[in-house]
Amino acid sequence: MRIGVLTGGGDCPGLNAVIRGIVRQGVDAYGHEFVGLRYGWAGVLDDNQMELTVESTADILPRGGTILGTSRTNPYADGGDGTAVVSAAMDRMGLDAMIAIGGEDTLGVAGRLAADGVSIIGVPKTIDNDLAGTDFTFGFQTAVQIATDAIDRLHTTAESHNRVIVVEVMGRHAGWIAAYAGIAGGAQAILVPERPFDIDALCDSIRRRHDGGRTYSIVVVSEGAVPKDGSSVVLVSGEIDAFGHPRLGGVAVALVAAIEERTGYESRVTILGHVQRGGTPTAYDRVLGTRFGVAAIDAVQAGSWGSMVSLSATEIVLVPLSDALDEPKLLDPSFYDTAAVFFG
Ligand code: F6P
Repeated sequence: MRIGVLTGGGDCPGLNAVIRGIVRQGVDAYGHEFVGLRYGWAGVLDDNQMELTVESTADILPRGGTILGTSRTNPYADGGDGTAVVSAAMDRMGLDAMIAIGGEDTLGVAGRLAADGVSIIGVPKTIDNDLAGTDFTFGFQTAVQIATDAIDRLHTTAESHNRVIVVEVMGRHAGWIAAYAGIAGGAQAILVPERPFDIDALCDSIRRRHDGGRTYSIVVVSEGAVPKDGSSVVLVSGEIDAFGHPRLGGVAVALVAAIEERTGYESRVTILGHVQRGGTPTAYDRVLGTRFGVAAIDAVQAGSWGSMVSLSATEIVLVPLSDALDEPKLLDPSFYDTAAVFFG
């Protein structure tokens, strides 16, 4: 078989481990040929391809990003007939099947293609860990480690200056990165999209902590956190991508101003942004990516079209692509309650 592989949406540490796993198992065990489609669905639409061989993917395991490049191109944008366009491209390139590695948007396209009879398998990816249908996505653990290292560093400078530091992490719909990094980094408050925050209650808890003798505080906030009064999230720009998502970022700037004004404590903001997605994956993400890649090509071999590889407890299993697409996987409330034990 000749199989097309693409990575779509935001990049994520561990993507190259998936690609390497697919190619190594696919060539060695099944004798398949691989074509890398460059820049997500854009590479399918433009026939922008590269050869993927055991040799060309041999040393990519520790590398961040994706050797294929990525984009947020949507073949169904503006009412386009994505299925016809992708099927025609697959015919032109002589592809028998596709493996799409991506998050809700890329897998949403894969799900539509599968429903229309295209031979496709999905691999779930996002640093946000908010995809349903899998216990964890690769890239999440790396992002948490990066954010935790940053929080550790912010502790010492916050303490030296008696400051409140608000750290903004990624997390559009769900507060997984904030909650994990907040617990690991010993944050005094964690604000997540699942629990709209009350700015006065937050300031009261910071005041109580400082009245009790502590001289500094670290607040971790997800980019998608919203205040209780229902005002909209703070946007960096009004820009909307091809899948209809606004570009987030900057809620921490508004927060820091509100904290300083209400408490009088000197406050600073750190927005970690894309540093959370860059660089080498942790060992855990390399292993999970490798397992997903090998399982994805096994699923191709088995003809399990319309499936997605998934982590269920410690096992890699196949689930229908539609399982990933219903609703985002939100933070487990009891997990957040554990984090809250250490607030204030
Ligand atoms: O991939 C998910 C994510 O990292 C979100 O957490 C974040 O809001 C978004 O991507 C940022 O996207 P971009 O790279 O397009 O700025």
